[in-house]
Amino acid sequence: MLFEHLGSASAEGKSAIVILGASGDLAKRKLMPALSVLRKQGMISEDSIITGVGRSKFTDEEFRDRFEISDDFKNQLFYHHGIQGLKDYLNEKGPFQRMIFFLSLPPSSYSGTVEQLYNEGFREEINIVIEKPFGRDYESARKLNESIHRYYPEKQIFRSDHYLAKEAVQNILIFRFANSIFEASWNNNYIESIQISAFETLGVEERGSYFDQAGSIRDMIQNHLLQMLCLITMDPPISLNATDIRVQKTGILKTIEIEEVSRGQYNGYLEEKGVSPDSDTETWAEMKLKINNHRWAGVPIYIRTGKALNRKGTEIGLKFKKRPHALYNAPDGTPSNEIIFKVQPSAGIILQLNGKNPGMDLQLARTDMAFCYNSSFKDEIPEAYQKLLADALKGDHTLFVSSIETETAWQKIDGIMNKGKLIHYDKGCVPKSIFDNIWIDFERYKNTC
Ligand code: BG6
Repeated sequence: MLFEHLGSASAEGKSAIVILGASGDLAKRKLMPALSVLRKQGMISEDSIITGVGRSKFTDEEFRDRFEISDDFKNQLFYHHGIQGLKDYLNEKGPFQRMIFFLSLPPSSYSGTVEQLYNEGFREEINIVIEKPFGRDYESARKLNESIHRYYPEKQIFRSDHYLAKEAVQNILIFRFANSIFEASWNNNYIESIQISAFETLGVEERGSYFDQAGSIRDMIQNHLLQMLCLITMDPPISLNATDIRVQKTGILKTIEIEEVSRGQYNGYLEEKGVSPDSDTETWAEMKLKINNHRWAGVPIYIRTGKALNRKGTEIGLKFKKRPHALYNAPDGTPSNEIIFKVQPSAGIILQLNGKNPGMDLQLARTDMAFCYNSSFKDEIPEAYQKLLADALKGDHTLFVSSIETETAWQKIDGIMNKGKLIHYDKGCVPKSIFDNIWIDFERYKNTC
């Protein structure tokens, strides 16, 4: 049963959605399919236009033919060669109630492109969406923010982190703050550890030259994993307003202290296209950190991510402390309770409990209480880019990362990048963890949802 409507997804009126770097992979794989769904759902009106911009020369027809979308929607697609002349071109097609510019470009060109947009005459009428990576360390992120803010204020900038738009990630705050039964135990009195794990089966594929300059810490931890950690650990915001949520997330980022790090690289990585033959870039990273605040002092946090592993899966787990006096003396003591947020491939929240095994003896058994999206809701889960684009159109910053968040996250990881000896692992295997006996067995929940 739906009982409260907290925000509408639709952006009414005529919009212009401009994709800079429209001949690239992201436009084809993610942006255009997402826009097509938004059009079908009426979140983009039929008089809105999608304009691809790039250095390649295409006619509108050639551009339209690059995408597998309906003919109706194809007619809303246009192409403009380069930024010069774009203002007049759009003026002729307008007026628009809102305009978003999606920078689907190499990060090195973000700053120059923003300047070009300004020089072309675009002002407060546009919102600019910027893909990650946003900088490659604190200094470069700070400089990038500075150069963007020279032309456009923060309220026009939308730094995307597609993990924030995943349905299960959006649900973290709802689960925590719309249910009163959890808050009392969400702290160092009850939680033994927090664990976040993001496994991928694919290697670097076609992105070797980008990834080799980044590595898992920059590519996944600085953004996706730390953002999920913020949502799991932040204090309740004073409102659902983006500014108030960002304040709480920044509070967490500021108090993070990374204690131990291990990096790994899969065998065969050095032969990947675009990878330097003597690269020591990590494709696996694992770390222990802590949050130095009142709520979480003393609770270890473990995070890990890697490519070419044995399975695709992202999970967040909270392991509860055991009760000090165990009434039910199982050989290893009563197992700890766990709350598992399954982010993907299937989404759900699982509460692991201890129950009585049926029978004459008094024997404990682990049982799961599961809330699974596929059985609880009939609606299809929207793809992250649908949500990001719809929110950018509406001007809602909630699922985007602020300049302070991104800089603070870089500050925290600056000191650990490219440090320490690499361990090597075979594709399809999980490298030996330096925290071996600690990790929740997330694979155990593979079939629960
Ligand atoms: C991207 C990273 O941000 O996230 C990729 O650059 C990674 O390297 C991807 O593969 C993972 O996203 P998802 O949604 O497939 O978990």
